[in-house]
Amino acid sequence: MTELQALAAEIAQCTKCLLHRGRTKAVPGEGLEDSEIMFIGEAPGFHEDQQGRPFVGAAGRFLEELLESIGLTRQDVYIANVIKCRPPGNRDPLPDEIEACKPFLDQQIDLIQPKVAVTLGRFSMARAFPKARISQIHGQPRKIGGIVYYPMYHPAAALHQPSLRRTIEEDMQRIPKLLKQAEQMTESELPAQAEQLRLF
Ligand code: URA
Repeated sequence: MTELQALAAEIAQCTKCLLHRGRTKAVPGEGLEDSEIMFIGEAPGFHEDQQGRPFVGAAGRFLEELLESIGLTRQDVYIANVIKCRPPGNRDPLPDEIEACKPFLDQQIDLIQPKVAVTLGRFSMARAFPKARISQIHGQPRKIGGIVYYPMYHPAAALHQPSLRRTIEEDMQRIPKLLKQAEQMTESELPAQAEQLRLF
């Protein structure tokens, strides 16, 4: 068993927040364990909770299309979420749920060591870009602690707001170049809160 698989087994048993009571299955994440690129979504929805796999519903189909547009499949990347159990009715994750789940995402990032971590949506973005507005910073990479964080809108946003589709597609198109440049990029000047990320 790999360390990531052991971590997934631990996540499946987790009772650190109340979300475990309502879950069918926890959704630890899946994909290529030494991938250069990782996608970090928000939280499992209905289908993810049923299957125990990330991004298998409508947003997942769009994510797969986006990956395909840059010549990748799900198997080429690692996909995880900020929180690993479905919030009731797909409500936004609460601060204490995000906090309880944070060590799992920290460990996943630490084990995978991606060159680029693509954050999908607000909650995922907040990890590397606290207090930022996604409308202002999407598509703008920042290197923190050796990893290039690249904020994008959540693919589900395009399903609710079709005008965002093009923006998401365009941000995706910049990823191959970003992967090539990631190692040469210099570390960003950080707002104080993001400084904690360096400690990983
Ligand atoms: N939305 C997410 O943020 N994550 C999933 O796994 C599915 C939908």
